[in-house]
Amino acid sequence: MAGEPATRRRLEHMDDLVSLCARRGFIFPSSEIYGGINGFWDYGPLGAELKSNLRALWWQRVVRERPDVEGIDSAIIAHPRTWEASGHVEHFSDPMVDCRTCKRRFRADQVDVPCPEAPKQRQVAECDLTDPRSFNLMLQTRIGASEDAASVAYLRAETCQPIFNDFKRVREAARQKIPFGIAQVGKAFRNEINPRNFTFRSREFEQAELEFFCHPSQREEWFGHWRDQRLAFHRELGFDESRLRTRAHESTELAHYARAALDVEYLFPFGWQEIEGIHDRGAWDLTRHGEYSGKDLGVTDPDTKEHFVPVVIETSVGIDRTCLALLVEAWAEEQLEAGESRIVMRLPASLAPIKAAVLPLSKKLAEPAHAIERDLRRRFNVFYDDAGNIGRRYRRQDEAGTPFCVTYDFDSEQDGKVTVRERDSMDQERISADAISAYLAERVEIHR
Ligand code: GAP
Repeated sequence: MAGEPATRRRLEHMDDLVSLCARRGFIFPSSEIYGGINGFWDYGPLGAELKSNLRALWWQRVVRERPDVEGIDSAIIAHPRTWEASGHVEHFSDPMVDCRTCKRRFRADQVDVPCPEAPKQRQVAECDLTDPRSFNLMLQTRIGASEDAASVAYLRAETCQPIFNDFKRVREAARQKIPFGIAQVGKAFRNEINPRNFTFRSREFEQAELEFFCHPSQREEWFGHWRDQRLAFHRELGFDESRLRTRAHESTELAHYARAALDVEYLFPFGWQEIEGIHDRGAWDLTRHGEYSGKDLGVTDPDTKEHFVPVVIETSVGIDRTCLALLVEAWAEEQLEAGESRIVMRLPASLAPIKAAVLPLSKKLAEPAHAIERDLRRRFNVFYDDAGNIGRRYRRQDEAGTPFCVTYDFDSEQDGKVTVRERDSMDQERISADAISAYLAERVEIHR
């Protein structure tokens, strides 16, 4: 059964992916037993591993490998003045319209879609809609026991604002000099009017952001540097060049403080969409937080003694969106020999949730197979499965995206070898059981 499949079909309909993700425990609706909650998703055993591997790869490339980048993990709730300084309280809003008939709310710029009440009869634009009104996207909460306005706080709408709050402290604590960056990965929350396209637009999601601080005269140079670094990262994720592109923002699209912005886009079944933004934010953030806090967030050049507010080059990638792009890219339906077919998730081995499955050919071989599993488990996320025929067990691992299956058979008892089957080619080779750990390490670990 080894070799290239006769035909391979890529993902065309998101429904195929959504059902696989729920069935196999990658991602499914949050609070499913209560009917779900719109815009919120839970990651199951496979999804949590995939996400954690992606996060680790980002942290490795953006923080650990760089002497000029420091990582932080800030609180999700910041002082409410943070969001006044950042402009979110005043400006972070979408225009929305309400349907007077069904009482649903839509983004004013997204009404050319079928009406959810009568999808075959009309578009939302043809419904009885109110005039557009501004709708702030920040999620509010209250702190402490009192109910007055002073107790209102916000769940962070982006992970970068606490980085600006912490800029002075981190620079001094880490004894960094300009140019240097501060990074963090974490949850962000937006009260999106129309969450849609599976996890693509959610109300709770994870961002991995880097804010790189430099002298204004170096902004173009650092923008180019980080653009190249981030594109190399997306290539490392294995996206086909034909489904990855960059799109520079027109000057009319730029925020008033921004000098340049570039989106990294992936071709989803629902079209080209942003997965990462690379922005030259100028000195806006530190200037505003300086004004609102009354603290001097400028720096002094030790040589020239020039005092200036650093300019920020930002890279901001969605962890959930990139996971979604990885799942879309990986999904394939393949026709094999003898009329058989399989769904296989061709995830990069370094990001795959399970690195190897240990499969004894018979339950009688459980003991030595469990010994291999125990040994591998110390280093890798492995899975043990002795239920059903071997072909069916391979198929289950194909759907989980497991790059290697290790089969222990009766010959293994004699020659100390196991069969290793590679997911994509389905090629099989016999290798010594003692060598599997090194064999996997070479193929499934992040290259450092
Ligand atoms: N600090 C800059 C910033 O937050 P953004 O373009 O609003 O910029 C950056 O967001 C990234 O965060 C996006 O490219 C996307 O990957 C992710 N993101 C933004 N909103 C999202 C949502 N509602 N659901 C999932 N991911 C989202």
